Amino acid sequence: MDFDELQLRLHDIKQYAKEKYIPIIRDESARFLYDYVINHRCKSILEIGTAIGYSGSIILASNDECRLTTVEINGESFDKAKDTFARLGYTDRVDMYLMDAKDLLEKLVSEKRHFDLIFLDGAKGQYYNYLPNLTELLMPDGVILADNVLLQGMVESDEIPSHKHRSMVMHLRQYLDAVTHDPYETEIVRLEDGLAITKYRGKK
Ligand SMILES: C[S@@+](CC[C@H](N)C(=O)[O-])C[C@H]1O[C@@H](n2cnc3c(N)ncnc32)[C@H](O)[C@@H]1O
Repeated sequence: MDFDELQLRLHDIKQYAKEKYIPIIRDESARFLYDYVINHRCKSILEIGTAIGYSGSIILASNDECRLTTVEINGESFDKAKDTFARLGYTDRVDMYLMDAKDLLEKLVSEKRHFDLIFLDGAKGQYYNYLPNLTELLMPDGVILADNVLLQGMVESDEIPSHKHRSMVMHLRQYLDAVTHDPYETEIVRLEDGLAITKYRGKK
């Protein structure tokens, strides 16, 4: 299925997100994610921030062989995501968790799980705090793809962010500072809100 055909299949879920003001990955970033999973043949994927299953469905549609582990803290969104995955026939390839991502990360680390792609799209203020566990969960050639790292240009701007965004901007700057220095390597894709593609060079 190509991306445009997939967008037609996901029309209802996008409409639902719009009506309920649920933030989901934007169109060009979604296309990037879809192509990334195809081109890198990602098979074992962890998503932080399921919301209603939109980006999760994009990931699952991109490769029939991939398996998704995804976590969401909001019960209503979690239930909607469950419906989304069931309707699209993806239930067998998804492990869904209704809990705080921080706790899931600790659980996965204790189980020595590893992923070739981690799609980071939960609470922006937590990206930096998650980093040690995310690093632990990466396969040697694995990648963390973090969405919204530029936050409408605010992260790189010299202007003082509004009170509402200040803490998020500070935390994202902290995340970007960490992942753009050794032992990490990061490429920033300047699409929409910005995607950071991070590799960890400390594992053999
Ligand atoms: C931007 S939305 C995710 C959108 C989704 N990835 C998509 O593109 O379809 C972020 C989600 O992260 C969830 N979230 C926020 N804090 C969380 C936490 N501590 N643990 C797990 N999920 C969290 C929110 O409830 C929200 O649904």
